[in-house]
Amino acid sequence: MSDVKKRIVQIAKMLFAAATVAKVITIVLMVVTCLQIAAAFSIKVPALTGFFDGHISQIESVLGRSTVFEILFQSANLSAMEPVYTKAIELFITFLSLLVLLYYIGFFKKLIRRIVEEGQPFSAEAARHMRENSWGLLLLALVNPVLGLLMFLLFRFFSLVFEYGAYLQDKAGETSRIQEEVIVSLAEITENKSEQTGQHIRRVSEYSKILAQQMGLPEEQVESLRLASTMHDLGKLMIPSEILDKPGRLTDAEFAEIKKHPGFGEHLLHNVEGETMTLARQIALEHHERYDGKGYPNGETGEEIGLESRIVAVADVYDALTSRRSYKDAWDPKVAYDEIVRCSGTQFDPKVVEAFVAAYDQIDAVRKEYADDHIANKAA
Ligand SMILES: [Fe+2]
Ligand SMILES: [Fe+2]
Repeated sequence: MSDVKKRIVQIAKMLFAAATVAKVITIVLMVVTCLQIAAAFSIKVPALTGFFDGHISQIESVLGRSTVFEILFQSANLSAMEPVYTKAIELFITFLSLLVLLYYIGFFKKLIRRIVEEGQPFSAEAARHMRENSWGLLLLALVNPVLGLLMFLLFRFFSLVFEYGAYLQDKAGETSRIQEEVIVSLAEITENKSEQTGQHIRRVSEYSKILAQQMGLPEEQVESLRLASTMHDLGKLMIPSEILDKPGRLTDAEFAEIKKHPGFGEHLLHNVEGETMTLARQIALEHHERYDGKGYPNGETGEEIGLESRIVAVADVYDALTSRRSYKDAWDPKVAYDEIVRCSGTQFDPKVVEAFVAAYDQIDAVRKEYADDHIANKAA
């Protein structure tokens, strides 16, 4: 979607430039028309006679002969007039048409500028403006009825396209808002399932965002990852609390049970649609996979594991190490940092670890900002 938006903005920029050129040409034609009117009258001034000769036929070849003028000319009154006046009237009508054109070029430029500046191709307001302003285009019929009618219909058509586009844009916004609300609720439910997780979900989400930004992922993908990563442990909802909250070491059977949570998470998100939810499903399933293929549940290797899951894997482990759990104390952040670096290329994607090292100051700041209460108390 962001690519489409970028292309629309690029095209809008080109259209803006073309409209500026059209505006300059229209202004030049208007000046020429004024000069023609002056020239038509100056025929009577001997010093200027012939100065503008030939220009009237030139401007006629550019704009065509005014239809209204033709109709007027056919009437007895006008055809009886002196040629200089008939020519002046014709040129004046042409001038008015150019004025109308100038107004619409300005209108068009304003519309395009909004697309360039806000990156929102459609708006209901723009549609309304187009509709309201379309009537003036009928004035172009002064020069050419076909042109006037065509421009009028085109404006009406595009006002409808804009209206429909704005409606779809709103719907898309609403869908992503609903998605976000559902995601936040699911994350809160997961958080409440085990008191021990504390701010784990928030920190993993923030770490993932920092890593993705450091790796140069596009802004929309970063935002999607930030949200989707909050659901990485969703499958833990299906794990009995006695196992999740068990103080001390887990038995092999209990650990085997815990290892089912990626599959459960994937299953819980099985029927959801939407970019972020699909990503959440992938992350829920893959966040315990290892770069060397020794992870679970599917033993995927290297880039078989989605990039976002490889990012969350680093964020998740770093946070698990630096947090206190029922079975272990929190590691010193420096030791946890060294552990992440040590596992580059085995447990973790080296590119993600590289980003972790580069952005460590930001990660450390997030760790301090969202410290679990008991850790904060300990530090205090
Ligand atoms: Fe997990
Ligand atoms: Fe986790």
